[in-house]
Amino acid sequence: DRDWSSDVCSSDLIAAGAFGGEPFGAADTPPNRLRWDPLAIPAEPTDFVDGLVTLACNGDVATQAGIGVHVYLANTSMKNRVFYNADGEMLVVPQEGALRFRTEFGIIDVTPGEIVVIPRGVKFAVELLDGPARGYLCENYGAPFRLPGLGPIGSNGLANPRDFQAPTAWFEDREGHFKLVNKFGGRFFEAAIDRSPLDVVAWHGNCAPYKYNLRDFVAIGSISADHPDPSIFTVLTSPSGQPGVANCDFVIFPPRWIVAEHSFRPPWFHRNMMSELMGLVRGEYDAKAGGFLPGGISLHNCMQPHGPDLASFERASSVELRPHKLENTLAF
Ligand code: FE2
Repeated sequence: DRDWSSDVCSSDLIAAGAFGGEPFGAADTPPNRLRWDPLAIPAEPTDFVDGLVTLACNGDVATQAGIGVHVYLANTSMKNRVFYNADGEMLVVPQEGALRFRTEFGIIDVTPGEIVVIPRGVKFAVELLDGPARGYLCENYGAPFRLPGLGPIGSNGLANPRDFQAPTAWFEDREGHFKLVNKFGGRFFEAAIDRSPLDVVAWHGNCAPYKYNLRDFVAIGSISADHPDPSIFTVLTSPSGQPGVANCDFVIFPPRWIVAEHSFRPPWFHRNMMSELMGLVRGEYDAKAGGFLPGGISLHNCMQPHGPDLASFERASSVELRPHKLENTLAF
C-alpha cells in the first residue's frame, strides 16, 4: 500500500484557469443557437494553460469519445512550466498572436492562419512570439485526427499530405525548478521536477506534433449550383466507429472563388446530426453579416434549426450573382 509514485514524480491537484474537465452536465446546455463575442485576454500574467476557458463539449473523457472546445487567452510564455494532456489530442487554431510550441519532438512556430496538432501525452511549453495571444483549442477524446477519404475527388485536393510539417529538431538540457502540468481524467495535476522534460534528443515514427498552413488547403466547390455541404472543406477528421459519422470534423471556410450563377449562395436553413461550432480567425462570415467578430464563437447544437439571418438572406436574394472571391475570410 505504498505510493511508489513519490519515488519518481508525484503530482498534486491544481486549479487551472476556467478549463472545465468534466464536460457534459457541468453546466446548463440549452439547445438554443448561441454566439459569444471574443473573450478578453486577461490583464494579469496568464500563460497558455492558465488561460484556457471551456466553451463547449460533447461525449466525455472517461468514455474516450467526443471533444472539448476551449479558448486560450494568454499574455505570458510558459518558461519553466511544461504541459501534457493525457485525456486527448489537441488541435490549436491561433486567432491572434504567434505561438512557439517547444515540444519533446522539437519546435513548431505557428501564426493565425495555421493550425498545430499535439498528440495525446506529448509534453510541450507555449511561448508567445509577438505579444498577447488568443485562439481556439479542440481537445479530441476520440480517434486521432487524420485526413478524410477523398472519395470521387481522387488522389489530390483538400489538405494534401505533403503540406503537413514536422517540428524543427531541438532539445534542451536544462536543470532548475520546473513544473510539469498534466491533465488527467478531466482535472489538472502539477509535479515539481529538477530538469526540463524537453530533453529528448531524437525520435522516430509518425506520432509527432505537426502543423499545417490553412492557405495550402485546396478548396473544391460547386461550379453549377450552390451550396455544397461544408464537409467538402474538411481538413482533418476524427472517425467514430460508425461509417459516415465522424467523432469530429475540422472544417474550414477557406478563401475561395464562388462562381455558381442563378443560385442562392449562403447555406440553407437546416438542421443536422452533428453539432456545429464555428470560430472566425479573420474577416466576415458570409451567413452572418456583422455581429460575428473574429475570435468569436457560434454554436448550433444537434437538430437545432439555423441558417442565414434575415439581412443575409435578403442581400443574397437580391445581389447580382457574379463570380466573386472570398479573399479575407477564414472561419472554421
Ligand atoms: Fe449548419
